Amino acid sequence: MEKIPVGILGATGMVGQQFVRLLSDHPWFEITALAASERSVGRTYREACQWVAPGEMPEAVEEMTVRRCEPNLPCRIVFSALPAEEAGPIEEEFAAAGYVVSSNARSHRYDPDVPLLIPEVNPGHLALIEVQRRRRAWKGFIVTCANCSTAQLVLALEPLRRAFGIKAISVVTMQALSGAGYPGVPSLSILDNVIPYIAGEEEKLEREPRKIWGELTQEGIAEAGVTISAQCHRVATRDGHLEAVSVKLGREAALEEVLAALEGFRSLPQELGLPSAPPRPIVVRREPDRPQPRLDREEGGGMSVVVGRVRKCPLLDYKMEILGHNTVRGAAGGAILNAELLVAQGYVS
Ligand SMILES: NC(=O)c1ccc[n+]([C@@H]2O[C@H](COP(=O)([O-])OP(=O)(O)OC[C@H]3O[C@@H](n4cnc5c(N)ncnc54)[C@H](OP(=O)(O)O)[C@@H]3O)[C@@H](O)[C@H]2O)c1
Repeated sequence: MEKIPVGILGATGMVGQQFVRLLSDHPWFEITALAASERSVGRTYREACQWVAPGEMPEAVEEMTVRRCEPNLPCRIVFSALPAEEAGPIEEEFAAAGYVVSSNARSHRYDPDVPLLIPEVNPGHLALIEVQRRRRAWKGFIVTCANCSTAQLVLALEPLRRAFGIKAISVVTMQALSGAGYPGVPSLSILDNVIPYIAGEEEKLEREPRKIWGELTQEGIAEAGVTISAQCHRVATRDGHLEAVSVKLGREAALEEVLAALEGFRSLPQELGLPSAPPRPIVVRREPDRPQPRLDREEGGGMSVVVGRVRKCPLLDYKMEILGHNTVRGAAGGAILNAELLVAQGYVS
């Protein structure tokens, strides 16, 4: 198959670099455009970008000229890694002009006609694309991926929701520095410290799962009735968000049933063999001290979530630790998997 030309908006940032890294050797997609702010426009990618992603900057992009985020880029899909304050209108311009927009930014996540997609969880929400195009008279469309801490939480709990139902979740996050972009949190604020506040994060964690788990209706998504309480912390790890989670199930379940549901989980991306789909979306560790960010974040190339310490909770039903790679599954990798599903389901012509 001929590769599909793709562009990256916000290509010089923390998530943009992960897009470049993950797309540079992709079997279906080829990077044909890189775009960023006025600071970078007209410079080569090598000059404009302070490369901090793993490995070397891919040779193929080094001499590409960074362009403006305007809908005249030579590609069919754009991946958006723009700051939320900028992403809203720019993504709309691209969608109106006929581009498929796969976004990381929060700007359109809650729009009733925009899918907030995790391919293993709610692929059926892609039906919103037709509603979106009709309502807005766009030739293209926007699909968003969840906030990093939401993506790993919802993916890890999906098998429990399917098997037993979920009534309530308590989640305490320990979020890595890369989640704040580059250069991010000042070193003097975070060294020897934990910051018990990340602006807007708790609201996102309490809201997004309800849309992702919501039911598709004629009017849009009817949000799921799960109660979520989130407390978010910035900690001094580089990559990988760790979450301490307690969950109240819809019905009683034995520990072995819970573990079997988690370990046996496979979904549509695995059935379709999408290139970025990890063979095991959820990896369960049985050791008492795992998962750990430094040891486990690269599981499945950063696309698997790792669950450990699954045990009875005296307050709710079960508690566990959930780890996910925030800039891979929680950002660029998630948006690429979304685009692969769009291609596989015939949404990219
Ligand atoms: N980091 C994570 O773990 C994570 C996870 C999930 C979602 N996200 C979301 O992904 C997006 C990017 O985050 P990040 O961490 O990569 O941020 P970042 O490191 O600050 O990068 C921002 C990028 O956007 C570009 N940009 C800034 N202002 C612009 C403008 N006015 N017009 C065009 N381009 C502009 C920057 O270009 P210059 O270099 O030219 O300034 C840079 O390429 C955000 O919406 C964030 O919330 C991040």
